[in-house]
Amino acid sequence: MQKSIMGGIMNPFVYGTVVSGKHFFDRKEETSRIVKTLSGGNNMVLYAPRRFGKTSLIYKAMAELEKKGHICVYFDFMPVYSADSFVRAYSKALADKQNNLSNFAKTFSTLIKGLRPVISFNKEGLPEFSVNFESKNIDETAISSLLDITETLSAKGKRTLVFFDEFQEVVKLKGLKFEALLRSKTQRQSKTNYLFFGSKTHLISDMFNNKKRAFYNAAMQMSIGALPENETIEYLQRNLAKNKLADNLAKYLIEKAGAIPHYIQMLAGEIWQCCIGNKSVITKNIIDDCAAKIVELKSDYYMELFDRQSQSKKQLLWAISKNGKNIFSIAYQNEFRLPGAATVQRAAKELLLDGIIEKLKEEYFVADPFFKMFIESKSK
Ligand SMILES: Nc1ncnc2c1ncn2[C@@H]1O[C@H](COP(=O)(O)OP(=O)(O)OP(=O)(O)O)[C@@H](O)[C@H]1O
Ligand SMILES: [Mg+2]
Repeated sequence: MQKSIMGGIMNPFVYGTVVSGKHFFDRKEETSRIVKTLSGGNNMVLYAPRRFGKTSLIYKAMAELEKKGHICVYFDFMPVYSADSFVRAYSKALADKQNNLSNFAKTFSTLIKGLRPVISFNKEGLPEFSVNFESKNIDETAISSLLDITETLSAKGKRTLVFFDEFQEVVKLKGLKFEALLRSKTQRQSKTNYLFFGSKTHLISDMFNNKKRAFYNAAMQMSIGALPENETIEYLQRNLAKNKLADNLAKYLIEKAGAIPHYIQMLAGEIWQCCIGNKSVITKNIIDDCAAKIVELKSDYYMELFDRQSQSKKQLLWAISKNGKNIFSIAYQNEFRLPGAATVQRAAKELLLDGIIEKLKEEYFVADPFFKMFIESKSK
């Protein structure tokens, strides 16, 4: 059993970070599909709502692709706020993958005009790569050359594979026409492939399915759903071994957590914590109490989040917490006494944009199952 720094036993459930090794299970088919598609020279877009395990899956696929000799570059668009910040962060992400930084700096300065590579040494004496800008405003040509540098990095017969996380944030570079530029790169480059993904599924989906957008039909599409129930039950039972968890109660736990990997681990972690040191069998009451405890711990945040919503959004949230199907039908509006269709459409769009609700196969749901419980408890 793993021990924590404080000498106590570590909670076997982990959430809120990328998981790997024994904390990561299944997704075998998904991993293999990503590996085959990218090493076969195609681009991909991966859809999944928040907290379903996209980033963890990508890390797993990257590890397998690197074993095959490909170079994998992971890049998160979330912190990007300007052309300069993209250039700095992307250059660094590429440099981090180099064994020989001075060779990389040479290639960099030969291929890219207007950007000067700098190698400095950090406190630990390790070399660090950064760029200096030669002019006030960076032009499109420099960014274009930077994107093309991936073509020179991989060994013969291998590819450079770029994983763009939180790709919906690319709109922040609208002024640069970055979407169109990158799209043309994906068509022309022969040794680089891309996988696009992000937590705002509806925005990513619009980028790849809207005829007016640069990335329309630009990549193979793949979506990931919940983790398979049987494997999840086994995983829960294995990690809660001291406190027997019956199959039907494992199913109940999964359902309470909205079948979302992140929340399953959160609830299971709470149950483990609650039962530590005793050998009690896990009951439905224990699961309910632990779920209620999580809601209680987050109640200040949930209260503030709920209060911040307009009247129509509150009504819609309450309705979706009961039933997320056909939410724009007249019958639904009558059943939940909702305002007019246009107001409901607008409320749904804004709630999606804020990540408070999600949509999967035409069904809407409250993204955080514990927030859903909070909403339900308020309307009792
Ligand atoms: N394959 C898996 N096995 C076990 N737990 C998983 C798995 N994938 C995800 N999780 C759980 O879900 C949590 C979130 O995973 P991850 O950050 O990869 O999801 P994400 O979809 O990228 O989230 P976000 O939408 O916030 O970017 C992890 O910390 C872990 O608790
Ligand atoms: Mg993520």
